[in-house]
Amino acid sequence: MDHFEYRNHQLFAEDLSVQEIAEHYGTPCYIYSRATLERHLKAYQTAMDGYPHMICYAVKANSNLAVLNVLARLGAGFDIVSVGEMERVLAAGGKPERIVFSGVGKLEHEMRRALEVGVHCFNVESAPELERLQQVAADMGKKAPISIRVNPDVDPQTHPYISTGLKENKFGVSIDEALELYHSAAVSPHLDVIGIDCHIGSQLTQISPFLDALERVLNIIETLRNEGIRLKHLDLGGGLGVTYNQETPPHPNEYARAVMERLKGSGLTLVLEPGRSIAANAGLMVTRVEYLKHNGHKDFAIVDAAMNDLIRPSLYGAWQNIVPVRQHSEGKEARYDIVGPVCETGDFIGKERLLNLKPGDLLAVRSAGAYGFVMSSNYNSRGRAAEVMVDGDKHYLVRRRETIEELFAGECALPESASVKP
Ligand code: LLP
Repeated sequence: MDHFEYRNHQLFAEDLSVQEIAEHYGTPCYIYSRATLERHLKAYQTAMDGYPHMICYAVKANSNLAVLNVLARLGAGFDIVSVGEMERVLAAGGKPERIVFSGVGKLEHEMRRALEVGVHCFNVESAPELERLQQVAADMGKKAPISIRVNPDVDPQTHPYISTGLKENKFGVSIDEALELYHSAAVSPHLDVIGIDCHIGSQLTQISPFLDALERVLNIIETLRNEGIRLKHLDLGGGLGVTYNQETPPHPNEYARAVMERLKGSGLTLVLEPGRSIAANAGLMVTRVEYLKHNGHKDFAIVDAAMNDLIRPSLYGAWQNIVPVRQHSEGKEARYDIVGPVCETGDFIGKERLLNLKPGDLLAVRSAGAYGFVMSSNYNSRGRAAEVMVDGDKHYLVRRRETIEELFAGECALPESASVKP
């Protein structure tokens, strides 16, 4: 459920007309609904109420400071994968002791900073990473809290680019290797073994792969317990899917309950790292139809947003709903490819969409709150879009549109003295 709906044939974001917001800030722009973020986080919080837990929102899904701040104020923790994400969380008011640090390639300076601020846990993904972390912690005279990310070799039945828990994926370590790493970590004076972690993929629409992974992780916990290594938390990662089209993913409530049912009596704190299920349907991307082009064979709507603004359709062939911001009472529908100005055939937002369009119309791309703006780029020297957050009948610019000057602010030409001969 979200807070975007039609009222009198006009799309609204909470209590505001999307048309008016887009006209005020220009297009393309992302519009987020504060109430929807809250609703999605609370769905997890309510489901897990009464069971020891920590909900660590996956910052990569949408790292805008306003989004992080709303979630931090509602008590969320955060899953980060870089020092950049960590600084964002801290700047947005997130608490370091509610941060888990994931990722296969943590750099030394990132480990240092995370130890300095005191993150809750490092989710360690390999033997050399464990070794490096131990060194850094020793240098700093600290003890690094760790969990090992296990790759349980479970098929999440999702897009291959976002499957992470199969043995051919780069993530985590095998069950056997995990046991070895725990053995060495347990005797290190600079490591504090506190948990175990896995994340099998994203946009999962069934509970069973999560439960299969959970069984495998619980087996490891049991083996370790028999050896005297007791873990405090189990982190099952993120991955719960959302409805983009016809998908029917389980509700967070159903998912969390199924997991907690299995954990009852274990004494383990449950950590989850949801990203998409919190942010995706809390955001739209609004774009303007610049031209309608008919080439005798196809109809194209050329819009002012492109693959640099929203890459999911181009990169994964992802389908996102594209709806009119204002529904016309006259005119007729045609089947359009919705394409951007970027010079690539792969630059499309949607294909074969039945829409009644006129030049100048605004279109809203639904479910764009996760992996939308965060994956945008400056390709074709296009400035990145504005981001706006709506709260009831108020709107706030939470990131201004990038200017032309900003596009090359960090660049410079070679000096006159360089060997450039005409
Ligand atoms: N935790 C870890 C360690 C992850 O790698 C991810 C996502 C999450 C949590 C959050 O997963 P979620 O709840 O959002 O499914 N760009 C792709 C999605 C990539 C997901 C990468 N990892 C897309 O647009 O579909």
